[in-house]
Amino acid sequence: MHLIKFGGSVITHKGRELTLRRKVLQRLCRELRAAKGEMVLVHGAGSFGHTKAKRYGLKKGIKKGYSPIRAAQVQWDVRDLDQEVLKAGLDVGLPFTSIPPYPILRMHNRKVKVFDPKPFEIALKEGLVPVTFGDVVLDGKQRVAICSGDDLMVHLAKYFRPERAIFVTVEDGVYDRPPSEKGAQFIEVLSPKKKVRSGSSGVADVTGDIGKKVDSMREMSRFGVETLVINGLESGRLRRVLQGKETLCTRMPAEGK
Ligand code: IPE
Repeated sequence: MHLIKFGGSVITHKGRELTLRRKVLQRLCRELRAAKGEMVLVHGAGSFGHTKAKRYGLKKGIKKGYSPIRAAQVQWDVRDLDQEVLKAGLDVGLPFTSIPPYPILRMHNRKVKVFDPKPFEIALKEGLVPVTFGDVVLDGKQRVAICSGDDLMVHLAKYFRPERAIFVTVEDGVYDRPPSEKGAQFIEVLSPKKKVRSGSSGVADVTGDIGKKVDSMREMSRFGVETLVINGLESGRLRRVLQGKETLCTRMPAEGK
């Protein structure tokens, strides 16, 4: 199985609210067709989620002055983006079907506590390609929280144990410090033990930076899933990876392999 996440920064303009990178999304969907066998796609929210989620303080759940309409608004925006992703897939013949996390996942204090993978299993059996996404979900401690696409990658990987999981981002891979900093070193093979220093990108991001992503990769490595970080703005890289060909990327091997 191929488990893939389209980062929100790749498929949207993260600094411009509710703005899709349509051409990039369409190309990435075309490249996905190179995948043989089963596939699950996760996508981030980009500027369809982070900007309002930050403005409304949804990360911390219910704060003074909170109105449920705000959570509902962010969900609506993110579903709008999901519709765009589904359409881009359908247009190139990929049988995408949407499985929003809200009804199948619960958090507690921003940690995933309940995750029901059954709807994915059923869809895969029918030959469909399940698509899920970072979203506003219910949280037992703070009523609502943000579940990131990276959280979903971890839980999907834990259940389905794909051979590898691919994060499609706007960087060639992972660097030892923010790539904008002088002397940043590109890491081809990232050991699960390696520390990576992250920095702020300056745009609204309520689910964390590269440090958080590396934590997710580490978790996946622990239960035997290799992870790759690739640049989705460079045409052909996703296709090459799916075809098992060499391409510029960062790879974190599965622990013990
Ligand atoms: C964020 O999901 C979800 C919301 C802000 C509602 P992600 O954390 O997976 O999104 P990206 O990939 O950073 O845009």
